[in-house]
Amino acid sequence: MKKIFSGIRPTGNIHIGNYLGAINQWIELQKTEDCVFCIADWHAITTPYEEKNLRNIIFDLTATYLASGLDPEKCILFVQSKVKQHTELAWLLGTITPLGELQRMTQFKDKSQKHKEYINAGLLNYPILMAADILLYNTEIVPVGKDQVQHVEITRNIAQKFNNKYGETFKIPEPLISKEGAKIMSLQDPEKKMSKTDDSKGSINIFDTEDEIKKKIMGATTDSDSIVKYDEINKKGISNLLNIYSLFGNKDIKSIEEEFEGKGYGEFKTSLSNLLIEKLKPIKEKREKISNEDIEKILNEGFLKAEERAENMMKEVRKKMGLTL
Ligand code: AMP
Ligand code: TRP
Repeated sequence: MKKIFSGIRPTGNIHIGNYLGAINQWIELQKTEDCVFCIADWHAITTPYEEKNLRNIIFDLTATYLASGLDPEKCILFVQSKVKQHTELAWLLGTITPLGELQRMTQFKDKSQKHKEYINAGLLNYPILMAADILLYNTEIVPVGKDQVQHVEITRNIAQKFNNKYGETFKIPEPLISKEGAKIMSLQDPEKKMSKTDDSKGSINIFDTEDEIKKKIMGATTDSDSIVKYDEINKKGISNLLNIYSLFGNKDIKSIEEEFEGKGYGEFKTSLSNLLIEKLKPIKEKREKISNEDIEKILNEGFLKAEERAENMMKEVRKKMGLTL
C-alpha cells in the first residue's frame, strides 16, 4: 500500500471542477492505498476570511466529502489545526528553507497581488506548512491539481535537504495529477478554469438545485455551428461540456459525438443537464442524512489517528535535530 496525503482549503462551495479534479481521485485511491486527507484550515486563514463562519465551512466541506464517497473506514480525515505537530515541523523546516525559494512561488506572487492589503508572513510560509503536512505522514504520493505541483516540488527539495543535513528521515513524495479532470473550464468563459470565486453562472456546485443546473448548462457558452464535436482549439465551450459529459457518464468522447450526430446543442445540453442532475442527486441525498454529530465523531477519530502518526514522526525529527530535552 502506498502512503497518500492531500489537503483542501475550507473556502467556498465545492464545484464539479473540484469534484472531477480532486475528490474523485481521492475516492479511487482510498480503495487500495493508505490515505490521509486533511482540511487545511491553517492554510485557509492566510487570505481574508470570516472567523465566525470558519467552523461551519469546515463542517460543510467534511459533509461534502463524506457525501461524495470518502469513507472514514478507508481513510483518515482530519482538521489540520487539531494536530499541533504540523506547526512544530513547519517551524523546524523553516530553518532550512531558503527565503528566495519562497518568494519565487507562483501562488505567493498571485495571492499577494490579489490581496495587497493582507500580505502576511503566513502567505509566504504557506509552502513550508504544506511540506510539514506532507512529510509528517511518510507520504509517497500527493494527489493535487496542477496549481499545487510547485508546492510539492518545494516539499521534495526541503525533504532532500533535511535528509542530507540530519540523516535519512523523510521519503521524497511525488505529485499525482488526474489527467482528464485536471482542468474543467468555466461554463461562461471556457478560456478560464471553473473556480470557487467565480460564484455565478460559470460553475456548477455540487449542491445546486435542479433548476440551477439546467439554467447554467443551457446558458453555457458555445459556438454557433451547433455540431457536437470535440475541438479544443476552435470549439472550447462544447469541448469542455463533452469532457464533463464523458467524466460523469463514464463514456468516451467519440461515442458521445456519435450519439449526438445531427442533433444540435439544445438536445446535447438537455441530456447533459439530466445526467448531472441524476449523478449529483445521490450526493445531495446523502448530505442530508449526515448530522453535525456524525461529522464531529468522524473528525475526532481522524484526529486521534493522525496525531499518533504525526507524533511518531516528530519523535524521530526532534532526535535527529538534537532537540532531545
Ligand atoms: P481550490 O478550489 O483551488 O481550493 O482547489 C481544490 C482542489 O480542486 C485542488 O486540488 C485543485 O487543483 C482542484 N481544482 C480546482 N478547480 C479545478 C478545475 N476547474 N478543474 C479541475 N480541478 C480543479
Ligand atoms: N495548498 C493546497 C491547495 O490550496 C491544500 C493543501 C494543504 C494540500 N496542505 C496540503 C494539498 C498537503 C496537498 C498536500 O489546494
